[in-house]
Amino acid sequence: MKIKNICCIGAGYVGGPTMAVIAQKNPEIKVTVVDINKERIAAWNDENVENIPIYEPGLSAVVAEARGRNLFFSTEVDKAIDEAEMIFISVNTPTKTYGIGKGMAADLKWIELCARQIARVAKEDKIIVEKSTLPVRTAEALKSILDNTGNGVNFQILSNPEFLAEGTAIDDLHNPDRILIGGDSSSKAGKIATQALVDVYASWVSEEKILTTNVWSSELSKLTANAFLAQRVSSINAMSELCEHTGADVNEISRAIGMDSRIGPKFLKASVGFGGSCFQKDILNLVYIAKSFGLNEVADYWEQVIIMNDHQKRRFAENIVKTLFNTVSGKKIALLGWAFKKDTNDTRESAAIYVADYLLNERAEIVVYDPKVKAEQIYADLDYLGSRNPEENRNLLKVVEKPYTACKDAHAIAVLTEWDEFKAYDWENIYNCMLKPAFLFDGRNILDRKKLANLGFATNSIGLPAVQMSKEKKLTSLATAG
Ligand code: UDX
Ligand code: UDX
Ligand code: ADP
Repeated sequence: MKIKNICCIGAGYVGGPTMAVIAQKNPEIKVTVVDINKERIAAWNDENVENIPIYEPGLSAVVAEARGRNLFFSTEVDKAIDEAEMIFISVNTPTKTYGIGKGMAADLKWIELCARQIARVAKEDKIIVEKSTLPVRTAEALKSILDNTGNGVNFQILSNPEFLAEGTAIDDLHNPDRILIGGDSSSKAGKIATQALVDVYASWVSEEKILTTNVWSSELSKLTANAFLAQRVSSINAMSELCEHTGADVNEISRAIGMDSRIGPKFLKASVGFGGSCFQKDILNLVYIAKSFGLNEVADYWEQVIIMNDHQKRRFAENIVKTLFNTVSGKKIALLGWAFKKDTNDTRESAAIYVADYLLNERAEIVVYDPKVKAEQIYADLDYLGSRNPEENRNLLKVVEKPYTACKDAHAIAVLTEWDEFKAYDWENIYNCMLKPAFLFDGRNILDRKKLANLGFATNSIGLPAVQMSKEKKLTSLATAG
């Protein structure tokens, strides 16, 4: 079976880039990405391709190449469903904030709405592809809704989890480690559907990288991959705290263990804590599923990864307060970076949100600079926590357009995202316009500590002993003070 029309429901961080690349690599397939969010679709259709709603290196070029040729963005969901032989579901599945499974289970409300809409509209057989990260056995729920509410047409459900990481999405899509497709291999229709999706990817991915499994393995592999990756970050972060107490250097440890080919060098960067829309959500989901089968040891094992991450974020913020002589009340603290990692404007679960909230509770005055995140997003993130009313958030926290404005007259600077541009700043200039002692908390270990110490900074990094300003500097600053 050759696919001619693809529809993707959900024009977000996953659906947008993935469909752009599928369209780029399959010019003979018409790909329509639909979303109920009108502004988002309008932004995807913006004449100036730099205004698309997601910042991702290389994405605008791919969109420019395919948009209007065989890639379309639209709010006409029913029409796109009707025309497509293959429908990707790529809507958001946040953690539930109410009722059973609150704070743990994935909220499948949006998935269910999609399924009901597809069932209502479809007049011919369709292949449904789960693209969102979903709890194991969601495919079964989808099938049940489709089969029981549809117009008597046949639906094949495939699970095709996305492994792209934000900030490198286009590269990851162009050169994936693997493509995973879960389908029903016991039926002929299931095999045909699986092959149809294999063919879509085979336009640019070599066949040995395309794995086919049963649906449940595919769904659980996605949760497992994210749980393992997050666990590596929590493991190295746990070691970072031990390093700070023993004089070992966490960067040296990462290097030393990463050279063991069984461990490997990636995902061993100690940090202020992992963020992003996937890690926490997927682990909570895994914990919830394990608990629902009564597997308490399994649940506790994975939950510890989250506990460690929360601890890392909190202790980073606590350390700022302690170092600033146990009070930050009324002190200006500059936060460099708000995104959950560099090269993205996504802020979901970003450590910066929790660090800012902690410092605001301590009555700090915060000024934020991030090269890609907009002020309205920063306020929305804080308001969502509900720690204080929106007006207070706007009074206590300011967002500025220039890093130097953020740092001027600050008591301390905290680096929360590893944006490359932070390394290139004129740190001498920044030092000169700060209050002294000039404290710097590097939550990503990206700045040159020696250089900063020579300039006079008192630097705290993750998993390394604190570095005081250099001796000559101390003497000269004492001399000028005296
Ligand atoms: C280990 C370390 O590998 C080695 O670097 C260190 O110097 C000493 O400790 P060893 O205990 O000899 O070496 O064996 P290893 O191959 O690491 O296996 C340890 C245990 O883990 C074994 O019981 C093995 O069966 C088990 N294992 C290992 C698994 O159950 N699954 C695996 O995937 C790997
Ligand atoms: C992750 C998975 O990598 C991807 O395969 C999946 O499809 C979605 O979830 P993403 O959340 O976009 O991708 O980013 P990732 O690069 O995995 O980083 C997640 C968080 O961990 C970030 O906050 C990052 O800063 C942090 N991190 C990562 C570390 O603190 N240290 C590391 O060594 C690696
Ligand atoms: P992800 O990171 O998984 O891509 P996003 O939140 O970035 O998540 O994107 C999900 C998109 O799905 C949002 O733009 C949202 O408006 C859209 N969406 C959610 N439910 C529906 C629905 N029933 N029909 C169409 N679009 C939907």
